[in-house]
Amino acid sequence: MALLNILEYPDPRLHKIAAPVAAVTPEIRQFVRDLAETMYTAPGVGLAATQVDVHKRIIVIDVSETKSELLTLINPEILSAEGEDENEEGCLSVPGYFDRVRRAARIRFRALSYDGQWFERDADGLLAVCVQHEMDHLIGKVFVEYLSPLKQQRLKSKAKKRQRLVG
Ligand code: NI
Repeated sequence: MALLNILEYPDPRLHKIAAPVAAVTPEIRQFVRDLAETMYTAPGVGLAATQVDVHKRIIVIDVSETKSELLTLINPEILSAEGEDENEEGCLSVPGYFDRVRRAARIRFRALSYDGQWFERDADGLLAVCVQHEMDHLIGKVFVEYLSPLKQQRLKSKAKKRQRLVG
């Protein structure tokens, strides 16, 4: 297995649109394992392929306390969404920054599993937030884009300063 490099906002590659996966091949499954290992190592509760510069509709999520319930979502689709909830979110592509975002409180989604089978599931709470957050990555959207233009500008200049310090 291999750890993958996570892109950091405002890297323009975070805004690429991911393409659907045509077939869940052994290569795709290998990539899913690498993506999961990268998420667990970071550590994070979710990671989208877009964040490691692979522009395919693949997400891994594990919101369990024990980090033992890996969820693989390939070609995910939201079937229904209801309610509204505001939660504090962070993102492995925006290290050290957290802010509140409004999203649907409950969703029903479907996706292909690691085994290439379609499944449907209802989600609320952290899982619902996470699925919506990661699915945004697949359409090139980072959570900070829900924030005010002023906050986004501040984050961009902070990122630039960090890059200068790192060299
Ligand atoms: Ni994220």
